[in-house]
Amino acid sequence: MTMQPWFTEAKLGIFVHYGIYSVEGVPESWALFDHVMPHERYMRQLDGFTASRFDAAAWARLFSRAGAGYAVLTARHHDGVALWDTRLSDLSVVRRTPAGRDLVAEYVAAMRDEGLRAGLYYSLSDWNHPDYASVRHPRPPHPELVDSTYVSPAPGAEDTRAWDRYLDYRDGQVRELLTRFGPDLLWFDGEWERSADQWRMPELARTIRDLAPDAVCNSRLLGHGDYATPEQGLPVSAPQAPWELCLTVNDSWGFRPHDVNHKTVGQLVRYFAQTIGMGGNLLLGVGPRADGTVVAEQAERLEGLGEWIRRHSPAVHGSVAGLPPGHHYGPSTLSADRRTLYLVCFDPPSETVCVRGLRNAVRRISVLGTGTELAHRRTGGLHDVPGDLWIDAPATEDLAAHGTVLALELDGELELYTGQGRD
Ligand code: GLC
Repeated sequence: MTMQPWFTEAKLGIFVHYGIYSVEGVPESWALFDHVMPHERYMRQLDGFTASRFDAAAWARLFSRAGAGYAVLTARHHDGVALWDTRLSDLSVVRRTPAGRDLVAEYVAAMRDEGLRAGLYYSLSDWNHPDYASVRHPRPPHPELVDSTYVSPAPGAEDTRAWDRYLDYRDGQVRELLTRFGPDLLWFDGEWERSADQWRMPELARTIRDLAPDAVCNSRLLGHGDYATPEQGLPVSAPQAPWELCLTVNDSWGFRPHDVNHKTVGQLVRYFAQTIGMGGNLLLGVGPRADGTVVAEQAERLEGLGEWIRRHSPAVHGSVAGLPPGHHYGPSTLSADRRTLYLVCFDPPSETVCVRGLRNAVRRISVLGTGTELAHRRTGGLHDVPGDLWIDAPATEDLAAHGTVLALELDGELELYTGQGRD
């Protein structure tokens, strides 16, 4: 586990929750856990999981058109159903579903063919494993429940032989994933039910370092891992980099046909620009149907975000976090050499765009995508205080859907004034 430059450069990843829960379109694994349906009925979804139109190459092309640099696939979610041909359990889509294929193998190969990095999600907990004692206090069924009703078993309260067997199984599966697929990234989850000691996290981290020293690892390993994973909401202030916001397109990770609360392309552009403006990555969720196809509402949104990213590629790829709050009303990014500043204007600016506290002289300002040059001037400034930069608003024909980006060529590396002015 080491942070790799490809990760911070990628900016966008696609998070695929694909599993038997898509057959009935119920909450991934949680339907089982929260008794939304009887265990037997949840598991009967195995019989309907065909993956009959699963085409990993088509996924890869779609993700690439979305502007993503990597993807993460649920190799095994909390329900314990593996998407690869694991030797440590009978419970896989290869052995127990009509799909009968190693979907992880096909996915990893297809992503790489398309030039995308291949990540794998693995749940530390397995609610179907006979040796996995559940530790949640019973509560009335509720689909989206993750809260303080979990209590780690007190030391000694655990059936230690069963727990050791469980950890052997988990370690064996992680080893399989690492040695068979050599994933570029590992995305762990489900850690909340036990402590780092109970999970034997240091040992697990060592295994990953030994077998896959270059793999990037998320931080749901309780003290281990390379990057933070805020979920389902933009952080108000920038977390310590590196970090990645995981976000659903509608309100669900897996396929749920009744959830039509899809974010608009405009909202996704805003999430994306604000995330990269604070130095993070966006990991956007996709929940394919049981046959492997991606629903049109999600595909269209991915394509829409991709169009915006393509037009604004210099502001995205190879960029770093932009101005801290207070200098510009909106997100911004900086070129890696810190000499070009990209201002994102979500709503069409009227009259002017103002930047405060910029010490640099500005050589040229243009609209990204059309190249049209914009006039600018300064007002004010006293001694050490640089005054304000006013940029003429772009003409209507220079505006981009969902957000126009202005490129400011500076006379050197960005220098900011962050004080409070003269007394
Ligand atoms: C939560 C959910 C899980 C989902 C994950 C994605 O941990 O429990 O179902 O896979 O978020 O980040």
